[in-house]
Amino acid sequence: MHHFSYRGGVLHAEGVAVPGIASDVGTPFYCYSTATLTRHLRVFTEALAGLDATVCYAVKANSNIAVIRTLAGLGAGCDVVSGGELQIALKAHVPPEKIVFSGVGKTEAELHLALATGVGQVNVESEAELQTLSAVATGLGKTARIALRVNPEVDAGSLDKISTGRKEDKFGVEWSQVPALYRKARALTGIDPAGVAVHIGSQITSLAPFEAAFRRIRELVLMLRADGFDIRHLDLGGGLGVPYDHASKIAPPSPEDYGALVKRTLGDLGCKFTFEPGRLIVANAGIMVSRVVSIKESTTRRFVIVDAGMNDLVRPAMYGARQEISPVNEARAGAAFGPVDVVGPVCESTDCFAKAYPLAELRAGDLVAFMTAGAYGAVMASSYNTRPLVPEVLVTGEQFAVVRRRPTFSEIVALEQLPPWIE
Ligand code: LLP
Repeated sequence: MHHFSYRGGVLHAEGVAVPGIASDVGTPFYCYSTATLTRHLRVFTEALAGLDATVCYAVKANSNIAVIRTLAGLGAGCDVVSGGELQIALKAHVPPEKIVFSGVGKTEAELHLALATGVGQVNVESEAELQTLSAVATGLGKTARIALRVNPEVDAGSLDKISTGRKEDKFGVEWSQVPALYRKARALTGIDPAGVAVHIGSQITSLAPFEAAFRRIRELVLMLRADGFDIRHLDLGGGLGVPYDHASKIAPPSPEDYGALVKRTLGDLGCKFTFEPGRLIVANAGIMVSRVVSIKESTTRRFVIVDAGMNDLVRPAMYGARQEISPVNEARAGAAFGPVDVVGPVCESTDCFAKAYPLAELRAGDLVAFMTAGAYGAVMASSYNTRPLVPEVLVTGEQFAVVRRRPTFSEIVALEQLPPWIE
């Protein structure tokens, strides 16, 4: 469910007409809906009612400070995976104790920052990281509450490149090594091995892999408790999929069914729970709006060339992911047009958003919206082809505001300088 809809034939973000934003801000731009963000956080939180749960929004999905601040204002904590994300969460007023620090390769400096800041939990992914964290914590005179992120050897059944819980994936501690690593953790200073963390992938569209992982986590908690560990925190990661492509009819599990599964498999363990949803909260709360530059006809194809490229929204080029494309002005009557290839201006053949896509007639100057672009959109953008990063706009009700503006050319090159040997 989201708050982008046609009113009088024109796409609106809540109460704001999208063409109005386009004239003000220029294209392309990302546009987020506060009402949708709010609704998604509420629905997810309600699905967990009865559990002692904290929702730690995964900042990697969309790290715009206004977005994080909106969610933090509604009570969300954050899951961060870098020193940068940690600082941005703090800047967005997320209380440090509600921040979980995840990630497969945290540096000593990042761990230092996390402990000095007082984050609630560090999810440790290896023995080496555990040793470093112990040294940093001991040096600071602190005790780090940790969860070991374990690899449950479960295939999330999602896109290959965004699955993380298989034995061959780089994430988490290998299942067979988990008990021994907890014992090592117990022997180290500055470490409180209080939890278990798991995250098996992203855009997961069935409950079965979650169920398989949660059942393994249950076994593990019981085994660790029998071994004398006071396991009282479970971090179940993120990963719940969202509908991207209404034509494909893939319906991801509802938050209610996911919550019921957690309660059924782990609810009786008396643990505090952390959840790290990213996509579920922000994906459908955002669109990317782009303008048609031109239409190019070849003997075999019709290309709709838009002013957004793979540098602005990389998911189709990078993962072969589908993003639904909608005209901002509802279809002109009667004109036969599609299927078309919707492509960007970047000089790579992979800069293609959709092939043989059914669209009604479009002309140069028309606006299109890439739906479900609020997650892993702006955050993954680059300046490839020296294209400025796309601005971000937040809407609430009848109001909108630019929450990250487009950089100027001088800003794009501001960090560059010539070496002394070039005149
Ligand atoms: N927690 C951890 C430890 C993660 O690695 C991730 C995502 C999340 C939570 C949030 O997962 P979500 O609820 O958003 O599925 N760029 C890719 C997605 C990469 C996800 C990485 N980790 C894409 O555009 O599909």
